[in-house]
Amino acid sequence: MLREALLRIGSRRSYSYKSVRRPNLSAVSAAKSQELQTPQPKPAANESPAHGEISLSKQLRARILATGPITVAEYMREVLTNPQGGYYMNRDVFGREGDFITSPEISQIFGELVGVWLASEWRKLGSPSPFQLIELGPGRGTLARDVLKVLTKFKQGAEFSMHMVEISPYLSLQQAQRFCYTHQKLPEDAQLPHYQVGTTATGIKAYWHSRLEDVPPGFSLVLAHEFFDALPIHKLQLIEGLWQEVLIDVVEQPESKLLPEFRYVISKSQTPVSRLFKPLPNETRTCLEYSLEAERHVDLLAQRLAEHGGVGLIMDYGHLGEKTDTFRGFKQHALHEPLLEPGTADLTADVDFKHLQHVAESRGHIQCYGPVEQGEFLERMQGKVRLEQLLANALPENKELIKSGYEMLTDPKQMGARFKFLSMFPSVLNDYLKKYPVAGFS
Ligand SMILES: C[S@@+](CC[C@H](N)C(=O)[O-])C[C@H]1O[C@@H](n2cnc3c(N)ncnc32)[C@H](O)[C@@H]1O
Repeated sequence: MLREALLRIGSRRSYSYKSVRRPNLSAVSAAKSQELQTPQPKPAANESPAHGEISLSKQLRARILATGPITVAEYMREVLTNPQGGYYMNRDVFGREGDFITSPEISQIFGELVGVWLASEWRKLGSPSPFQLIELGPGRGTLARDVLKVLTKFKQGAEFSMHMVEISPYLSLQQAQRFCYTHQKLPEDAQLPHYQVGTTATGIKAYWHSRLEDVPPGFSLVLAHEFFDALPIHKLQLIEGLWQEVLIDVVEQPESKLLPEFRYVISKSQTPVSRLFKPLPNETRTCLEYSLEAERHVDLLAQRLAEHGGVGLIMDYGHLGEKTDTFRGFKQHALHEPLLEPGTADLTADVDFKHLQHVAESRGHIQCYGPVEQGEFLERMQGKVRLEQLLANALPENKELIKSGYEMLTDPKQMGARFKFLSMFPSVLNDYLKKYPVAGFS
């Protein structure tokens, strides 16, 4: 009875929304890391619970039918992080077996050079002790492991702790297994700002937090690799001088299981976000993606660095405020229609570095450097020297893999140009950093 009533409300309401078309997905640049060259077998990770998949789709349908179309941000948040069926919440999605592969997973050189960068900037700032290494969205924990290796070597007797900001219970366990000697999940009612603790083989304490706000204050070295592209975006369009929002509605009667059960519609009037949105000066786009969540995270980071000192490094694929439509899905190393089978594919959007930089610098306490292209950064950090060292000590059968991994990270036609690095420093250091420029950025 209730279900029927909901369906009826849904039918009447959704006819009054105007459908909007998306550009051809194949025309969207394919940067969710590097697409693998060879076709991949269907991964075990994605054969995951048909039960979970269906229920997420059904949940979204029921919600839209009950309360009306939802924002792309709400859709993305549910699809990626819904505690039951969310894409990141209970499976390993990385590597050849998963849906995409990220730089730290391709070559250890990536994490090592990021570690060297952190250590050298930390030393330049007087080697403050204690300090904390914070990583947002650590995935499998590979970057943290490689950075830890370097920091442990270069810490010169300083004390530090590790703080992982991770929403996925499954991935937090994988991370702990990757770089901790012992680890422990804490009871849900522990009322602590962290939900898991661990200790590395060299005695460094590691903590897992659900939110950046929960990480204790202190001098921090902060990393975010492919974190910002996973944060929900709003899609906005300028129509007759007003910003309107693209929403997601149900398809009344999907014609086939191969077609999405959802469709894009344009909001009938301004939404809270489209009303709040303030374009940057000189904005010429009439259609763009805007991430409130990214804005919130950068603002928190900026406040932390300004108040307690530290440096931030954001690494991701993105643009400088010119792209309009990059929201897409990834499944088995190929583009995937984001409205099809929610929960079974990654959803992502290119990071707007111009927006991040503007937010970071807007309070006047932070100076950003970059963005620079990944290839440039790694080459400036002496990636080739490290490559030669590794090759000199590698088994003959591994040499090709080591070489091609480094090439994939640095070649502008592969990941070298699409991925960018943006660093953040407290602006009280401006004069000092003019004298001793930030490594890798000049
Ligand atoms: C694309 S993966 C990147 C993983 C890793 N940094 C790498 O490059 O291999 C995104 C990571 O961010 C986490 N994540 C996504 N949304 C999050 C949120 N709102 N809060 C905390 N972690 C989040 C995911 O669980 C995952 O670990």
